[in-house]
Amino acid sequence: MDFSAFVCSFFICCFCCSKAMPTTLNQDAVNDRPVIGILTQIVSDEVMKPFGGTYIPSSYVKYIESGGCRVMPIRLTLTTAEYESIFQKINGLIFIGGTGDLEKSDFARVAKIFYRLALTANDAGDFFPIWGTCMGLQLLTVLVAGENLLENTSAENIALPLNLTTGYKAYTSRMFGDFPDDLMKALKHEPLTGNFHRYGVTVKTFQENEKLQSFFSVLSTNVAENGAHFVSTIEGKRYPFYAVQWHPEVNRFQWDKKLNFPHSRHAVQLSSLLADFFANEGRSSLHQFDNPEEEAASLIYNYTPVYAANFTAYEQIYFF
Ligand SMILES: *[C@@H]1O[C@H](CO)[C@@H](O)[C@H](O)[C@H]1NC(C)=O
Ligand SMILES: *[C@@H]1O[C@H](CO)[C@@H](O)[C@H](O)[C@H]1NC(C)=O
Ligand SMILES: *[C@@H]1O[C@H](CO)[C@@H](O)[C@H](O)[C@H]1NC(C)=O
Repeated sequence: MDFSAFVCSFFICCFCCSKAMPTTLNQDAVNDRPVIGILTQIVSDEVMKPFGGTYIPSSYVKYIESGGCRVMPIRLTLTTAEYESIFQKINGLIFIGGTGDLEKSDFARVAKIFYRLALTANDAGDFFPIWGTCMGLQLLTVLVAGENLLENTSAENIALPLNLTTGYKAYTSRMFGDFPDDLMKALKHEPLTGNFHRYGVTVKTFQENEKLQSFFSVLSTNVAENGAHFVSTIEGKRYPFYAVQWHPEVNRFQWDKKLNFPHSRHAVQLSSLLADFFANEGRSSLHQFDNPEEEAASLIYNYTPVYAANFTAYEQIYFF
């Protein structure tokens, strides 16, 4: 039987007519050695400047590693061709929190290159997940909407429960799909999500924006200090793109006592299950490095983090 012809015609049909979730094509293939790219963040804090121009807090690295993935740091100084090449090697991407211009910075420029590559790949059945945390969520909304819709939704240094749009039913979303009932209940009633942001997308703005509305499902909302309701957890309807305005990594990997990092058993469980979830998304991506040497040289294991708890809210930071 001409298997390749069958695959090909199925592919064309799937792509043109049905707009099925991209997962359908390689749903049986599993990659148990996922490498997740983390886009480095531009240093803006004066106290961090002596160490380097870009950075990744170790908490994000540990978070990804805890799910059974390895991390590749992605610098902001490469050419478009180099990013296209990296895209073919990694199995998912994280946009981390921080501060910066979401339209004109190098961070925004590189993010947009990967975002477009990911859209095209997923459309063609080449599964590729993206996760955004805090500013990463804000960035994803800018990329999807094609404009900056952020408003003051200040919630700085406060842990909150989520106002779940899905009720207690975990199975109505992919992100919370494997959560046990008691964790869903805790998520709704206990302050398990650490918020450290000034800006966000209000529920009203989200609902009025056709692009955001058709791209993402809102899984939770929260109320800001100024009373604004903002979207706090979103997942792509058709694409494996996920984002949280809060910080799941701090629950297990940041300890500054001045900040409201949730460390309860449920808070830790929430962080673990989300890392697990995203790692599993990465396992559906079959991208790979050209050879083991190239892979080894690309991983974050080549770098040593700096102890940073005495001058930042992070315990350790990788600088580049
Ligand atoms: C929770 O979200 C619903 C809409 O999903 C909204 O009507 C309600 O006001 C919100 N409650 C809180 C406490 O944020
Ligand atoms: C946002 O709103 C809060 C609470 O009302 C206020 O304290 C803060 O100054 C506002 N921030 C900006 C940038 O407008
Ligand atoms: C932080 O601690 C390290 C030693 O672990 C020290 O070398 C460094 O100077 C300290 N930094 C600041 C800003 O105090």
